[in-house]
Amino acid sequence: MKKYRNTLLVCIPVIALPLLLSNLTLAKDDEIRKFHSEAEMAHFQMVVLDTTLPNGYNYLFAGSGVCQKCHGLDTLGLASVDANGDDVNVVDDWRATMMANSAKDPFWRAKISHEVLLYPQHKAAIEDKCTSCHAPMGHFNAKHLGALHYGIADMVADSLAMDGVSCLACHMLAKEGIAESFSGLLTFDTFRVAYGPYMSPLVSPMLTETGYKPKFSDHISKSEACADCHTLLTETLDFQGNVTGNKFVEQATYHEWLNSSYNDTLSCQGCHMPSLDKWPVHIVTGAMTEPRSPFFLHELVGGNVTMLGLLRDNVEALGLTAGPSQFQDVMGKTTALHHGGRSSSLWWKRRRATRFLFLAKWTASTKCSAKT
Ligand code: HEC
Ligand code: HEC
Ligand code: HEC
Ligand code: HEC
Ligand code: HEC
Repeated sequence: MKKYRNTLLVCIPVIALPLLLSNLTLAKDDEIRKFHSEAEMAHFQMVVLDTTLPNGYNYLFAGSGVCQKCHGLDTLGLASVDANGDDVNVVDDWRATMMANSAKDPFWRAKISHEVLLYPQHKAAIEDKCTSCHAPMGHFNAKHLGALHYGIADMVADSLAMDGVSCLACHMLAKEGIAESFSGLLTFDTFRVAYGPYMSPLVSPMLTETGYKPKFSDHISKSEACADCHTLLTETLDFQGNVTGNKFVEQATYHEWLNSSYNDTLSCQGCHMPSLDKWPVHIVTGAMTEPRSPFFLHELVGGNVTMLGLLRDNVEALGLTAGPSQFQDVMGKTTALHHGGRSSSLWWKRRRATRFLFLAKWTASTKCSAKT
């Protein structure tokens, strides 16, 4: 990786200097002057100058820009590509999802402002609760360092909080106590680790460059990894703003899944992170590691097309780190999910799961009827 970057640094002046000279001598000749096509230039700028994702570290976490260096787009097209050679890197798939934009989501921000306007006496408690799931890398770092509350003012000044449900908000979740507390009461390991689905990862490049250690753990691949954010019980207030002591179940997606027939057949990831089963993928730019299988696409789409469209149209105003075409792409995947369209790999998963359930029921019923 470092070697490749050095080559890039050398290449840029080497390419730029003759180009500059040729411009001086052949300034009138348009054909010769255009060394790269416009599409190439746009691509080049996106790849080389893409510094929009946060690159920093706080006490516990690192920004997605840190991970992008190795798990992002491979300009040589060797790592993070599918059987057709199409790019499937996890960073670009994730960055235009609702989770990546959970701290910048203007509807979310408006909802908090409204709640605080109605009950200013509960401002600290409301903002603290809302940032736990929507801006976890800011919230839990501050809590770890002893803060009592973490609010919206803290969040907007904190680039890692604004990175939303970022890479390490999932990959650093501790195994102990997972899916026990819910409602954004998350526990992270504090020893700089990124849990993943593969046994015996090559540790040294990531540890040396980032200080984080890639490590196998099965808890990351289970629905429990989604549970603590995808179940939300809130304390209710009366119209005067007094705490009633009651709890309201706002969201119970994990428990709905737990009580569904998918419980022992298909996890959240099984549907929301479709896998490339037959095509091993080099997961690191520089291709220094063996290809891995299965590779899990970070599609992470759900029900929200409206907000993705709004984000697509307001990239600059909202300071987003994905571009309009990336949002458009995620909108397409979301619509495919709604329509069960064939373009969505999820469609096949669901079909397979339905067929499996049907077969299971059929086998059970034939067994029963055979007995009677
Ligand atoms: C336990 C984690 C958690 C906490 C805490 C939390 N949220 Fe959310 N929030 C979610 C999830 C998950 C979704 C997505 C739900 C879906 O798509 O079905 C969401 C979605 C939303 C949306 C819809 C966004 C959109 O663009 O459609 C709003 C508004 C929202 N939350 C407001 C709040 C407010 C206000 C608070 C604090 C009082 C809060 N949330 C606290 C997990 C949480
Ligand atoms: C919502 C949680 C979540 C977020 C956010 C997330 N990941 Fe993942 N990631 C997972 C899960 C879960 C798996 C394993 C899937 C499985 O085993 O079913 C995984 C797998 C991986 C892998 C192994 C290769 C693969 O795709 O299978 C890498 C590398 C990875 N993630 C890096 C990242 C990076 C870098 C980011 C940020 C740009 C990121 N992840 C964001 C949950 C997440
Ligand atoms: C210097 C390059 C580099 C950077 C930067 C980097 N990684 Fe990695 N990552 C690796 C390598 C190498 C592996 C091991 C690949 C293998 O063995 O197939 C790996 C593996 C992983 C795995 C899979 C672990 C497993 O056992 O399944 C996850 C998850 C992961 N990285 C997440 C991240 C996250 C999150 C970041 C940003 C904080 C990040 N990586 C930054 C190089 C890097
Ligand atoms: C740290 C908290 C957190 C974790 C962990 C988490 N999520 Fe989320 N998720 C959120 C929040 C917050 C939102 C809503 C963002 C918004 O709308 O502003 C969300 C939204 C979603 C959506 C809706 C996207 C849409 O377009 O409507 C899906 C699907 C989703 N998450 C799947 C998962 C899966 C699968 C996992 C586990 C692998 C997971 N999440 C883990 C916090 C989390
Ligand atoms: C069998 C496949 C499947 C499984 C398993 C599954 N989902 Fe989904 N999920 C879907 C589909 C399909 C949609 C889109 C539904 C629609 O709006 O048409 C969806 C929608 C969502 C949404 C957005 C809902 C909304 O109204 O905005 C969230 C959030 C979500 N899933 C999270 C999860 C979590 C967390 C789990 C595990 C506890 C899970 N899902 C398990 C298929 C699945």
